Parts: sequence; structure tokens; C-alpha cells
Amino acid sequence: MSLDVEAFIRERLPLEPVVGAPEVRLHRAGPHSGLMRLADADPDFEPPYWSRPWGGGLVLARHVLDHPSLVTGRRVMDLGCGSGLVAIAAALAGAAEVVAVDVDPYAITAARLNAAANDVALSYLRGDLTRGAPPDMDLILVGDLFYARGLARRVEAFLRRCQSGGVSVLIGDPGREALPAARLRVVAEHPVVDYGDPGGAVRNAAVYALI
Ligand SMILES: C[S@@+](CC[C@H](N)C(=O)[O-])C[C@H]1O[C@@H](n2cnc3c(N)ncnc32)[C@H](O)[C@@H]1O
Repeated sequence: MSLDVEAFIRERLPLEPVVGAPEVRLHRAGPHSGLMRLADADPDFEPPYWSRPWGGGLVLARHVLDHPSLVTGRRVMDLGCGSGLVAIAAALAGAAEVVAVDVDPYAITAARLNAAANDVALSYLRGDLTRGAPPDMDLILVGDLFYARGLARRVEAFLRRCQSGGVSVLIGDPGREALPAARLRVVAEHPVVDYGDPGGAVRNAAVYALI
């Protein structure tokens, strides 16, 4: 990262309440944010998934905020945190500890800024945990991590290992193609405005548990 990414996010991605989860405010990219400047400055720049809330994170954040007992006093991990939306919702809902995990260093930076803007404390972990052992947590929240087939297979296998090891798992997803829906149980549904849907169209997204 050769640009001052924190300054860039603060100055060019306005802090806004999240549609559907207005308890959380996020730095969100708009048409004039100029994210290409980040890409031009860094050959390792990945698609900036962290710059907007995704449908899967939105439904999960809404669910956690509406049902704080799911997280109150528990150690929670947000796997694939992006902007940090789900992690921040869990912290606001009373989790004892929240770890935000992402492979993308820009996501960690964005989540850190967004957490500060929401006055919550998170821990951060950059890396891919999906090939490893279950973490020492009570609950893993997964917002919109089933957007590619290979990744979806790895994430599902990891989450099943976690569940077998005694870690609870909740997944938020707006129905991505790679979601293994036949092996999941719908826990709740909420309408969301998903990133990429034209004109702010609303679609149903769901919170799932592993069967
Ligand atoms: C579609 S975004 C969702 C972000 C956020 N959870 C939300 O719903 O708004 C998926 C995020 O997962 C991250 N990611 C992809 N593979 C990952 C992995 N193996 N471990 C952790 N994070 C990963 C990406 O960098 C990206 O930030």
C-alpha cells in the first residue's frame, strides 16, 4: 500500500448509516470515490469488497442486532469481514470479544476505521483460516463468503469442522450460486439491498445454520 489508505477512506468514502441496519455506520464507496487510484498505486490491489456492505452481511447484521442474545457475552468471529459490518453489529449487540478476519489487508484497514467510527473495539486477523483447525471461539458469523465455487467448498468444510468442534455457525447470504443451500437450514429472512443490484432493488436474503 503506497497511498495513505486510511486517509483515502476517511476523505473519499463518506460515513453513512447502513440501509437496513442503520445502527451501524460505514465508510461506503460512491461513484466519486475514485477507488481506481488505490488500484493504480498497488499491483496487489484486490477487488474492493470492503468498500460496501454485501447482502449476506446485511442480513446477518440485522439478525444479530435484532437477537442480541445470540452474541451477548460470547466470543465471536466475523469470517470474511470486508467492511467489518457483521463484526461491528456483533460488538454493538454485546459480544464479549469480536475478531474480524479477512485475507485482504484493505478490508482490515476499513474494518478498523469503521469500528472506530461506531465506537466499538474489535480484534483483527489477516489471513485464510479455512485450511486450518477451528478457532477458539463460541460463534462464527459468515456474511457473503459463498460467492465463488472453490471458496464456497473450502468455507463449508471449515465451518463443518468448527461446528463439530463445538463452535456455533451462522451464515448470511442473498442466494449466491455457490451457496450449498440443500445442506443449510433457513433460520430467518430479511429484505436487503444487495451490492450490485440495480437501482437499490430489494431482495430477500437469509440467515442459515448448517444442517
Ligand atoms: C463479498 S465480501 C463480504 C464482506 C462482508 N462480510 C459483507 O457481507 O459485507 C467477502 C469478503 O471475504 C473476504 N475473503 C475471501 N476469502 C476469504 C478467506 N478465505 N478468509 C477470510 N476472508 C476471505 C474477501 O476479501 C471479502 O472482504
